[in-house]
Amino acid sequence: MQMTVFGTGYLGATHAACMAELGHNVLGVDVDEAKIASLTKGEVPFFEPGLQDILTRNIQAGRLRFTTDYREAAEFANVHFIGVGTPQKKGSNAADTRYVKAVIDDLVPLLSGDHLILGKSTVPVGTAASLQKRAKKLLRTPPNRAPHHDETAENTDSPAAPATVEIAWNPEFLREGHAVEDTLRPDRIVLGVRAKNSRAEEVAREVYASALAEGTPFLVMDRPTAELVKVSANAFLATKISFINAVSEVCEIAGGDVTALADAIGYDERIGRKFLGAGLGFGGGCLPKDIRAFMARAGELGADQALTFLREVDAINMRRREKMVELARRVLGGSLIGSNVTVLGAAFKPDSDDVRDSPALSVAGSLSLAGANVTVYDPKAMENAKKIFPTLNYPNSLEEALRGADVVAVATEWKEFRELDPARALELIGAAAPAEEGQQDRPAPAVIDGRNCLDRATWEAAGWRYLALGVG
Ligand code: UGA
Repeated sequence: MQMTVFGTGYLGATHAACMAELGHNVLGVDVDEAKIASLTKGEVPFFEPGLQDILTRNIQAGRLRFTTDYREAAEFANVHFIGVGTPQKKGSNAADTRYVKAVIDDLVPLLSGDHLILGKSTVPVGTAASLQKRAKKLLRTPPNRAPHHDETAENTDSPAAPATVEIAWNPEFLREGHAVEDTLRPDRIVLGVRAKNSRAEEVAREVYASALAEGTPFLVMDRPTAELVKVSANAFLATKISFINAVSEVCEIAGGDVTALADAIGYDERIGRKFLGAGLGFGGGCLPKDIRAFMARAGELGADQALTFLREVDAINMRRREKMVELARRVLGGSLIGSNVTVLGAAFKPDSDDVRDSPALSVAGSLSLAGANVTVYDPKAMENAKKIFPTLNYPNSLEEALRGADVVAVATEWKEFRELDPARALELIGAAAPAEEGQQDRPAPAVIDGRNCLDRATWEAAGWRYLALGVG
């Protein structure tokens, strides 16, 4: 099939490359010339495992191209995906849908013939219907059939040929760090259509034929339900994380251990262990802004009471960041001023370079504002982190990052942090030989496990003071 994908960020670029990988002919479209230039050269402008390979392979196979030209996109295909961002609106909790609207505004007037637009971006419920109305106003109308109408003009493939547009919603559930796998082998495909027997269903069956052949559930529903499925899924995941983090707060006071607790309740199949990872909480470009946008939209619809609990979910999540800073302060004897704190992790989760609303960077920034000398190390997100907090120290290696640290805070559970040898880490921070001159008064070095990803016993045995979120 021929198709376009509008937006070439984490979602759009992955979708475009994966659709090509499935054998479709794909044109990726973006208004950002730098991104398009980089993708055209075969370079992924961000880090996502496995994406580079399929991008290169499909560009070389001639199935994948990129452009900033909407006219080219309008002529290239009759099926268009929208995968642009819907960030939080400045000064509000609501989602900013301006980029989605812009695709409709700039694309629809250029269309001839019958087109299907499949939205993948996460949008407030009602967006698809309002975009349908918007598109209707922008469509070329059929030429006026006057009695002496010039037939030759009508039959040419002139730019004035009429068009129809159907808008359907096909939300995306990919996780960063697993985006390729999630797109090629989704656990379900959801499609919100305008009416029963819509053409969208037939087209989606063809687009996702390989996944459907493998038995992937295909759920066709109305558009508002499909839009709500996506935000509900993210709201549920956020709630699950904040639930365990709320229990963390009680564990800390009562002397419990939240990880042991999560393991124990997770064995109940109705509960499940996934997304009960207690610690610094959720961040990124989706969960935080999606729960806020969901609340804002419910408020607009007059159902604000229904989602007030999400405010608490948000608050519990944010408190974890403060707790991490408090632990560092406590371990340093009450003041962060002049201390050397190394924060391991800047990305909002491992296997990603995304620092949008990253709990790790938020902690690093707060520590710095409280007077600590903060060093941040992340295997992939250093450049993005520097753009947000240019004043922190960004060494070139993990070894360098640990040198001279008074406290090490693990804020993102990258494999290389989880597997860090505590004895070696002790050597690196320079505390291995406390008997050395000038070292006698130095307190035992501390590690704060913000993701409950280290083995407490091993770290303590190596001579570290171990602190964690959710451990009393
Ligand atoms: C999330 C959803 O998981 C995807 O299904 C959805 O498609 C995506 O948002 C989106 O809307 O585009 P993502 O933001 O990539 O995916 O990351 P998650 O794996 O959900 O993690 C979100 C945050 O929760 C991370 O900061 C992670 O560290 C944190 N988390 C996750 C926990 O604190 N504890 C856990 O047990 C799991």
